[in-house]
Amino acid sequence: GLVTSTDMFKKAYEGKYAVGAFNVNDMEIIQGIVEAAQEEKAPLILQVSAGARKYANPVYLKKLVEAAVETTDLDICLHLDHGADFEICKSCVDGGFTSVMIDGSKYPFEENIALTKKVADYAHDHGVVVEAELGKLAGIEDAVSVGDHEASFTDPDEAVEFVERTGCDSLAITIGTSHGAFKFKGTPKLDFPRLEKISGLLPGYPLVLHGSSSVPKEFVDLCNQYGGAIPGAQGVPEDMLREAAKWGVCKINIDTDLRLAMTASIRKVFVEQPQVFDPREYLGPGRNAIKAMVAHKLKDVLGCAGKL
Ligand code: G3H
Ligand code: 13P
Ligand code: ZN
Repeated sequence: GLVTSTDMFKKAYEGKYAVGAFNVNDMEIIQGIVEAAQEEKAPLILQVSAGARKYANPVYLKKLVEAAVETTDLDICLHLDHGADFEICKSCVDGGFTSVMIDGSKYPFEENIALTKKVADYAHDHGVVVEAELGKLAGIEDAVSVGDHEASFTDPDEAVEFVERTGCDSLAITIGTSHGAFKFKGTPKLDFPRLEKISGLLPGYPLVLHGSSSVPKEFVDLCNQYGGAIPGAQGVPEDMLREAAKWGVCKINIDTDLRLAMTASIRKVFVEQPQVFDPREYLGPGRNAIKAMVAHKLKDVLGCAGKL
C-alpha cells in the first residue's frame, strides 16, 4: 500500500544504505521505476514536483501511483518534492500523499522554521511525514566564488536547532550537490566533513540529499550521439553517494538520470528507425531504459535492493 517513509528510513539508517526517491511525471516513468523496485525488492519513494503536478495533473499522478500499488506487492511512499508553501503541502496531505517536503530554504532561518513547523503540525495531525530543507542548493553557475558557495551550505548547529524546533521528520542538507545535469565545472567535490558533523550531531536522524544524479557519461554520450546537444554535463560520482549513505543520508533524490536514460533511448529509436511513428515503439524503450537505470541505482549505488 501507500506508506510513510518512517520505517524505510529507520531500516536504511541502521543498515547504512539509502532509499531512492525518484521523480515521476507520467505513466511510463512510474511503470519503469516500479518494475525495477519490484524486481529488486527495494523500498521506494515516488516524488511529485510542482512541475509534475502542472504537467500531468495531480489526480492523474495519484491514480497512476495507486495503480502501481494495486498491481504490485510494493509499499510505496508518495512524496511531494519541493513544496513551496503551506497550501501545496496541505493539498497533498488532504489528497492522500504520505509524505510532503516543505522547502523553506529560500527564507531566512526563523521564517523557514515557522513555515516548516506549520506544515509539520498539520501533516502530523493527518499521519503524514515531513521533509524540510536547510541551506541553499545553488547551481554551480550561481556560485560567485567557492567561499560564497560554501556559505550557503547547511550549518551543523543550525540543523540541530531547526530539527528540534520544527519537528520535521527528515532534513535535506546542502553539501555541494545541485539540481540538473551540470553540477560541477571542474572536479566533483562534496563537503563530507560537514556531512559527518551534521550526522554526528543528529544521531539516528534521517538526512536527505537532493541533486544526486550521477549524469553517467555513457548516457550523455548516447544523447549527443543521436542528435542531442548537452555538452559538459557532469553529476555526483556514484562512490560519493555510497559514502553519503554511511553518514545518515537515508533518502537520495534522482530525476536527471531518469530523464537522460529515457531521452537517450528515444533518440536512438528516432535515428535508427525513422519509419517509427507509433508512440509505443519509442515510449516502450524509454520505459525500459528507466527501469534499467533505476535497477542499477537500487543495486549498485543506494544499496537498498533486497531490503523490503
Ligand atoms: O527538483 C527538481 C526535480 O528534478 C524536479 O524538476 O521541477 O522540472 O519537475 P521539475
Ligand atoms: P537531480 O537533478 O540531480 O536528479 O536531483 C533531483 C532532485 O533533487 C529532486 O528533488
Ligand atoms: Zn530537489
